[in-house]
This record gives sequence, C-alpha cells and structure tokens, in this order.
Amino acid sequence: METQQQLDNFQARIDAGEKIEPKDWMPDRYRQQIIRMGSQHAHSEIVGMLPEGNWIGRAPSLKRKLVLLAKVQDEAGHGLYLYSAIETLGVSRADLIDQYLYGSAKYSSIFNYPTLSYADVCVIGWLVDGAAIVNQTKLAQSSYGPYSRANIRICREESFHKKQGYEMVAKLASGTPAQRKMVQDAVNRFWWPTLMMFGPSDSDSPNSAELIKWKVKLNTNDELRQHFIDRTVMEAEAVNITLPDPDLKFNQETGHWDYGDIPWDEFWDVVQGNGVMNRERMKARREAHENGAWVRKAAQAYARKKKLSREQAS
Ligand code: 3HC
Repeated sequence: METQQQLDNFQARIDAGEKIEPKDWMPDRYRQQIIRMGSQHAHSEIVGMLPEGNWIGRAPSLKRKLVLLAKVQDEAGHGLYLYSAIETLGVSRADLIDQYLYGSAKYSSIFNYPTLSYADVCVIGWLVDGAAIVNQTKLAQSSYGPYSRANIRICREESFHKKQGYEMVAKLASGTPAQRKMVQDAVNRFWWPTLMMFGPSDSDSPNSAELIKWKVKLNTNDELRQHFIDRTVMEAEAVNITLPDPDLKFNQETGHWDYGDIPWDEFWDVVQGNGVMNRERMKARREAHENGAWVRKAAQAYARKKKLSREQAS
C-alpha cells in the first residue's frame, strides 16, 4: 500500500525537478504510465519505418536512397532506445512487443496513412518528424531518467530527419509543375493526420493531467500542437506551399495561428484500427516478428551457452 507520506515525498522530488531513476521509489501508477506511454512511443518508431521503407527501393537517386536508408535505420534505433528505457521498469521487451502485435497497445495514428508518392516521404520528414521534434524536445526533459535520456538521443537524429525532408519539399515545390502538384497533394493528405499526432484535444485527454503533475509531459497536447502550427505556417510560406486549412489565420491578440476543426472522428477511427493501412501495418509487423523468431531463439541460446561457460569457468 502506498502511504500518503511516500506520495508527498515523491511529488516533492518531481516539483524540485529531480529525475526519477529505475531503483527509486515511485507510485505504481507513475510506473504504469511511463510503461504505457514509452512503449507506445517505441512501437510508433518501429511501425513508422514501414511507410518510408516502402520508397527505399524507388528513391529517385542514389543520394536520396542513402538518405532515406539512414533515416529509416535511425527510426529502428529510436525504437530500441525507447524499449531499453522502458525495460528498466521491469517489463520485458518481448511482452511489450506482444502487447501491440497481438494485444491492444497503440502506436501513432500517423503511420496508418499510405505513402502514395515519393513526395510523401519528403513531407513525412518535414511535417511528421517536425511534429515529433516539438514533442520529443519536451519529453527529453521528462521526469523519468531513462525515458528523458532516450529522447535526448532521439532528438539529435530527429533534426536531420526534418532537415532532409524540408530540403526535398523545397526542391519539389520549386520544381516542375508536376513536382509542385505532387508535393502539394502530399501536404494536403498529411497535414491534418500530423496535427492528430499530438493526441486528442486537452478536454478529451484522460492521461494528460496526471502526466503533467508528474512532469512526464511538460505541456498539454493542445499547447504542443499550437507550437507546431505556429512554426510550420512560416515554413510552408517560405517554400510557397499552401496548408489545407482555410481557417488558418494569425490572431494578433494571442500571437498564435488560429486553425480549423480537426476531424476527430477520423482520428478515433484510425486509433481504433480502422485506418487505411492499420491492417497492412499489423500484418507486416506480425510477419516480420514471426519470421524473425528463429533469430531471437538462436541469440537467446547463444547467450545462455555463454553464461553457462562463464559460470563453469568461475
Ligand atoms: N495515435 C494513437 N493513439 C493516440 C494518439 C495518436 N496520435 N494520440 C493519443 N492516443 C491515445 C493515447 O495513447 C491514449 O490511449 P491509451 O490510454 O490507451 O494509451 C488515448 O489516445 C488518449 O490520449 P491522451 O492524450 O490521454 O494520451 P497521452 O497523454 O499519452 O498523450 C501522446 C498522447 C501525445 C501521443 C503522448 O502519449 C506522447 O507524447 N507519447 C510519446 C511520443 C509519441 O508516442 N509519439 C508518437 C510518434 S513517434 C514518431 O513520430 C517517430 C518519428 O521518428 C517519426
């Protein structure tokens, strides 16, 4: 049973800006929240490799292929940093992975949209990784030490992801009419789903209050979404791209960009598994996981043998 004194002492540590480390006392609810949010973050990184991976074999040049390969490999690494951070809370990676492949654990809705043209890869780099940077730079200050440090590492690579995407968007936007049309079409399809990456509006966010009290999240979903919109409107103008929201208007009073209604029905539909690509993403991940079972078995057998020979030698 958690005593009020323990809870008060814990909150005092959080309020003082201290980092909570794996061996520290923490409320079980805090532990559960970090496992939930951090593992879903990791799942998102791994599933997020699929949409862009679809274009590695069809990149328009060797340079673009190399850049895309590097980015997709980075995402795998991000997933591994995050799984390692969450394993410090005593959960196994195998269980976490089973929870999303065969259970109800989530991954980010954005990865359930198809990548129909190469311009989609460019726009993912600019918008999706741009949104991830806004979120992850705050998560890098999160109160749980291992999760904070995983996000610090991720953010270093994320800025390359966004820059390479924005560079390609600028190139296409100033290219031939066909290239301009292709990149504008990609922005039209990815703008609203990108805004949904920040989660439901604050009034519909059951986890936010607790996560903010414990400084797991430093800002609310709407605050981060607004920050992303404010910076992206200017980036779109700079490359002569139109964002598909006729209600976008600078509000002199607030100093922020007002924006139109986000299609929340679509969001919850995708979160509940009914997006265009949900089934295909899960099928691809389950097949990869099942086809890779022999590698995991061999690695575990090897590790057991090494441990045995070390024990026999000592
Ligand atoms: N897709 C799927 N599910 C979502 C979602 C989204 N975009 N936004 C929210 N949800 C889910 C939540 O998981 C929660 O469900 P659960 O309680 O069953 O887990 C429910 O909707 C209610 O949302 P809340 O706002 O209450 O949930 P959170 O407080 O956890 O906030 C979040 C949601 C902002 C996504 C937060 O979890 C978060 O910041 N997570 C860490 C970052 C992350 O996961 N980013 C995903 C993208 S990773 C990425 O972009 C990789 C890059 O390299 C491309």
